[in-house]
Amino acid sequence: ADNGLARTPPMGWLDWERFRCNTDCVNDPDNCISENLIKTMADLMASEGYKDAGYEYVCIDDCWPSHERGPDGRLVPDPERFPSGMKALADYVHSKGLKLGIYEDFGTETCAKYPGSEFYLQTDAQTFADWGIDLLKFDTCNSYSSDFQYGFPAMAFYLNQTGRPILFSCEWPHGESESNFTAIRQACNMWRTGLDIEDSWDSVVGVIDFYAKDAQNFSSFSGPGGWADPDEVIVGDFGLSYEEERAHFGMWAMFASPLLMSVDLRNIRNSSKALLQNRNILAINQDPLGHQATLKMELANGYVYVFTRTLVDNKIAVAVLNKAFNGMPTSVTMTGKDLGLTDESGYTITDGFTGDQIGSYGPTSEIIQNVNPSGIVIFVATPK
Ligand code: DGJ
Repeated sequence: ADNGLARTPPMGWLDWERFRCNTDCVNDPDNCISENLIKTMADLMASEGYKDAGYEYVCIDDCWPSHERGPDGRLVPDPERFPSGMKALADYVHSKGLKLGIYEDFGTETCAKYPGSEFYLQTDAQTFADWGIDLLKFDTCNSYSSDFQYGFPAMAFYLNQTGRPILFSCEWPHGESESNFTAIRQACNMWRTGLDIEDSWDSVVGVIDFYAKDAQNFSSFSGPGGWADPDEVIVGDFGLSYEEERAHFGMWAMFASPLLMSVDLRNIRNSSKALLQNRNILAINQDPLGHQATLKMELANGYVYVFTRTLVDNKIAVAVLNKAFNGMPTSVTMTGKDLGLTDESGYTITDGFTGDQIGSYGPTSEIIQNVNPSGIVIFVATPK
């Protein structure tokens, strides 16, 4: 969307994958969807280095409102779980130097059966603006996919009309087989490319396979102002090994994906925290050109993917991903030319995670990398 927002992929935190629709604040007060949870995460984003690394949006997903709209037709936050109201919560989040995201659904009800925005698009856009909301995630449950092409641009219009900059995160094209990415990009600052991520390596590989296929050449629509969204970052949760976390996060960086962490920041392994704050990987994700990586080669019977993307100053980032979990590292041989390193003067190569210089390649150089099972190697080639 052309609203001045999301010039680089949005970064932040979103409650859904880790906290779901937990509304039981009586028995599980520390983990229920509530102002306390959001405030706690905002505190930790500010105090634990995430904000300094670039994470900005703290986002609430489904299950925040009361089941009934107010007498004026406006949405009302659940009074038990958000007793101070959304305006106060937004003020709090803003006082931390962060931004607040909220969720609604284009249909009659949200996926979890809270009131949907159908027939209330303008009212809801205005309510969110009045509360000081900075991002809206707009879902598609209980609606017709044939209506997305009207509903999402309409909501984008109403958001713009409020005059408040509100980043528009769309679940459109979710469920559509042939997507009009031109229209989607026009309305949205980010758009979900697939079904919900789950806390597993299989789920992550499913996303990466989808990006490898790049149907309709959807990679070409990502760039400053609008980004394909493979769903949340699950680094620090329960399902991934250390190698898998690096591969997952490294690929989201290569894809110029929005980085919305869904993790309990109160209980996170140091290695996961360091990964989420890795400045070298984040620099690839936030590269101002905003090119989404595409598949360059498939090796080792399809178990190894090589993705590349161009960065500013003619740098090239290369990711070698080993999808197999077969016990031992796989050795991969490529030439500079295979990877698009065609400049005869050659390239200085640095490790994408550590920034360490690891050598110098030219177009005819043979590049050999050992890639761990369900692991990744990323390097950045800078022309000499
Ligand atoms: C479906 C979406 O894809 C998820 O990301 C999440 O927003 C849930 N709905 C909430 O019900």
